[in-house]
Amino acid sequence: MKKDLVIEAQNVLDGNFQEKGYSIPCKGLYPFQWKWDSGFIAIGFAHYDMEKAKREMKTLLDAQWGNGFIPHIVFHVETDSYFPGRDFHLSKLHPESNDAYPSTGMTQPPVLGFTLEKMYQIATDKKDVLDFIKDNIDKVYENHQYFYKNRDPQNEGLVYIYHNWESGTDNSPLWDDIWDTMNPPSYTFERRDTTHVDASQRPSNREYDHYLHIIEIAKEHNYDDKKIAELSPFLVQDPLFNTMLIKSNEALIDLYKIIGGNEDKIKQLEQWQAKSKASFNTKLYDAELGAYIHYDLRNEKPIRFVSSSSFTPLFAGIPSKEQAATIIQTMMTKFGGDDMYLCASFDPTNERFNPKKYWRGPVWINLNWILYNGLKDYGYDDIAARVKSDTMELITKAGFYEYFDPRKSEHTEGSKGYGGANFSWSAALFLDMLDN
Ligand code: DGY
Repeated sequence: MKKDLVIEAQNVLDGNFQEKGYSIPCKGLYPFQWKWDSGFIAIGFAHYDMEKAKREMKTLLDAQWGNGFIPHIVFHVETDSYFPGRDFHLSKLHPESNDAYPSTGMTQPPVLGFTLEKMYQIATDKKDVLDFIKDNIDKVYENHQYFYKNRDPQNEGLVYIYHNWESGTDNSPLWDDIWDTMNPPSYTFERRDTTHVDASQRPSNREYDHYLHIIEIAKEHNYDDKKIAELSPFLVQDPLFNTMLIKSNEALIDLYKIIGGNEDKIKQLEQWQAKSKASFNTKLYDAELGAYIHYDLRNEKPIRFVSSSSFTPLFAGIPSKEQAATIIQTMMTKFGGDDMYLCASFDPTNERFNPKKYWRGPVWINLNWILYNGLKDYGYDDIAARVKSDTMELITKAGFYEYFDPRKSEHTEGSKGYGGANFSWSAALFLDMLDN
């Protein structure tokens, strides 16, 4: 059975790979290249087709801007099957945007550093992959430099996101109180996502008004980072996003050491690491909740909810042993009941939890992969094994969907997942977890 699923996963990935050298997350719903998707997808390809893994990375890095920024969507093709597309985002407003690749003017979690390291670890021909890394690693370094230079106005070692789409956890209940501080106009627009997927599984129209409004403000200032930091109604320090950055910093240090030389860059990365980890553990750790939380930098207040992002710092070695024990206990108490698959994306004991709606509750395979690896690193092998077996069971029962209902009672014979089918990162990270 596992063998059939391996072939099926490879078919999903091969079917979503495009001639131009990038993968779509899935057919219909997402017709372009997404940044963090591409990283996870490259890890999947690395297991059986390293050339595709390299092309996936190279195509994304080609779309980098002059200031080191890497956008969240690269609009490689013209299509009206997605909204908001290139004509809405208008990346060319930014003076250093990439002329050859129309894109959004926002980013997504910085997964590329650890993607390169995973590719190296998986590779059988280490020299070949190391040559590829040598040619490309500085672009990832420059991307991190962009973050620390432009996204940390109080010089804390914690970078902000200015849009919920930058978090990757698009419509999480975490943002609801921020939406209450805003009163955007009701835009006239035609949703495309809800022609592909049931509206009950997607964000509401009113949520989209907020999403569009933040972009309009950024566009008014040509995506200038200083203006965004000053004016964006959404400005958040996100533990998931900062964990990805810290994990990728560590990967860059390891890789530069393997390559040799580059002492100045290693030193800089180590300085970022020390500062980022220290601030993370003071500012984003909530001892009372026993979890890491988000911080609303615009309104200067902690966002005191527990989500799957709250446990991701395990993946980057951020918590002390004691903190790790505490957050894992929180996870198992709130998310780990016998009737639930690990790991719901939002606190199932909270009234805002919705097991069907995108990032308001469903299980996501990339978050499970992050938690699985983090739990193993801290020696919690039994709970890691539960995350893995829950992941395998969901995929076996429902297929390579985008997200899944966390309630076991929903997965009877012939159950399906939610969102897009044949979803690339679900297939890619399944392959990696299986191998691991
Ligand atoms: C979407 O269209 O919902 C995407 O996730 C935005 O990145």
